[in-house]
Amino acid sequence: MTYKVIARKYRPQTFAEIVGQQHVTRTLANAITSNRVAHAYIFSGVRGVGKTTAARILAKALNCASGPTATPDNTCDSCREISAGSSLDVLEIDAASNRGIDQIRELREMVRYAPASSRYKVVILDEAHQLTDEASNALLKTLEEPPERVVFILATTRAEDLVETIKSRAQLFQFRALTFQEIAGEIERIANAEQLTIEPGAVAVLARAAEGSLRDGLSLLEQAIAYGGETITDAQVRELLGVVAESVLDELVAAVEEQSAERALALVHKLIGDGQNLQHFCREAIRHFRNLLVVRVCNADSELVAAPAEERPRLAGQAARFSEEDLTRFFHILLATDDDLRRKPDPRLHLELGLLKLINARRLAPLEEALAQLRGETRRPAAAGNQAAPPSVPVRTASPPPFSTSSTGAAVRMAPASEPAPSASATSAPPAPSSLPSTDRSLPASAPHTLARAAEAHSTGAASAQVDAIKSAIRGQKFLWSMVERATRWEMDANELRLFFPSDSRTLAEMLQARDPMERLRTVLQQVTGMPLRVCVKLESARGGNARGPELRARFEEDPIVRAMLEKFGGQISEIKRPGEE
Ligand SMILES: Nc1ncnc2c1ncn2[C@@H]1O[C@H](COP(=O)(O)OP(=O)(O)OP(=O)(O)O)[C@@H](O)[C@H]1O
Ligand SMILES: [Mg+2]
Ligand SMILES: [Zn+2]
Repeated sequence: MTYKVIARKYRPQTFAEIVGQQHVTRTLANAITSNRVAHAYIFSGVRGVGKTTAARILAKALNCASGPTATPDNTCDSCREISAGSSLDVLEIDAASNRGIDQIRELREMVRYAPASSRYKVVILDEAHQLTDEASNALLKTLEEPPERVVFILATTRAEDLVETIKSRAQLFQFRALTFQEIAGEIERIANAEQLTIEPGAVAVLARAAEGSLRDGLSLLEQAIAYGGETITDAQVRELLGVVAESVLDELVAAVEEQSAERALALVHKLIGDGQNLQHFCREAIRHFRNLLVVRVCNADSELVAAPAEERPRLAGQAARFSEEDLTRFFHILLATDDDLRRKPDPRLHLELGLLKLINARRLAPLEEALAQLRGETRRPAAAGNQAAPPSVPVRTASPPPFSTSSTGAAVRMAPASEPAPSASATSAPPAPSSLPSTDRSLPASAPHTLARAAEAHSTGAASAQVDAIKSAIRGQKFLWSMVERATRWEMDANELRLFFPSDSRTLAEMLQARDPMERLRTVLQQVTGMPLRVCVKLESARGGNARGPELRARFEEDPIVRAMLEKFGGQISEIKRPGEE
């Protein structure tokens, strides 16, 4: 038997076999049947979700001997050549390695001639965003005067990086990341076809680790086969991928519920003893708490929960022990911890700190409330929500919290004037800036220098009014808001909304790009603006024009919230740090 990697062996050969992209495949099939195929398409979407696959099927559909047809037969010479990659009329070019002007000129020459033996020449330009500006311009000329019977398909993981003029000449299809269920379903189907025995827990671990990319899911399956042979167990897959056991996550949840710093630190100790990768663990914890949040906000049956049916009752049980606000807070803290683990040298220390923040998160909640009151806010801030928490939660406003975030997103460490040390967490870990999210609501009215406000000033009046309307619509959906509230800039024009995130919020920005939040966001945009807007998520460059040193200190000293806190708790400013600063 010849060996063929699973992803290739099971590459869909018809539109109907492509999973989860019906919005694309149906439109393409209709275009073919009604003879209205465009000259150029952009297939955009994250890696491994079917872009190249769909492009090849479109090529077959156009050139099939029994076509043009939405259901190519896959048996004629043309279909077979295209599948084998040997068709002279279907050019697949990797723009990453052919990104220059010369290659595009060559391409223009090639498409000038009629197809050799087919109806259409189809040019599939992979990673099209990698083209140089010159090459893009040359390509644009071709798209402006498209040769007869040539179809361009630009596949890209970053459509936002394509030049606007090219985008406006092409029909854009946004491929979406696949859901947990879709990926799990395919893994199961293919495992059956390969006559493997695979435990449901193993399918779940693989599907979660695939993070929306079916190709990644299938390569992981392949690794699991290489590792475990024909019987694939949950334990094997966890070992292979360094994924922690569910019981470890249960222990974390229990520690948080009991607010037991001791249990949390013991957990880190055990992970290290077991040789676990701490970053992995943190990612798993993020997934877990995200699931809990979704279960709390939607319900346990929601399609948005990335867990198989068997695990859901357990998730529901855990989610019920926390308020939605708590879970949102936990989620943010873990995201910040993940960023720390990624960028800083001592993973143990940062994980310990992160978990201690989790443990203390509920105690910090009342402080946020106090701050809101100081600000004279009448609205009840969503993030300050112990009201919704179970009544058994101890609310200890008496002990001063060790630190808090302030309006500029930097953290102020409070040095208590009289008491020896903050008593919130009795550990040897040094205090550090809290990474609690600074929410839009926590911006004091008198802080015109904040990024968010600068952004609003930046956008035009009408657009900024719309941005405001969009923001308040999103606030109604706590889960979605928890993801976008860290955006530092909102820019909007007639076509798209651009959300900028701080450079250290990569994980958050990535999660926002997954299908569920994206679809929710687009729905809100459509509702508010009445138009189908694109959403583009970007990271701010690491060096923003941020204030430093004395200037920053001066700002804090003026800040009414900081002043009120100093008065109320009787402290002084000892240090000012940005989150994530050493
Ligand atoms: N939507 C899908 N339905 C079925 N199989 C899929 C789908 N997406 C990906 N696959 C599987 O993953 C493999 C790779 O998919 P494909 O090459 O189409 O991804 P892509 O979106 O072009 O990714 P990249 O951006 O990395 O080029 C396919 O051979 C197929 O096995
Ligand atoms: Mg591809
Ligand atoms: Zn055919």
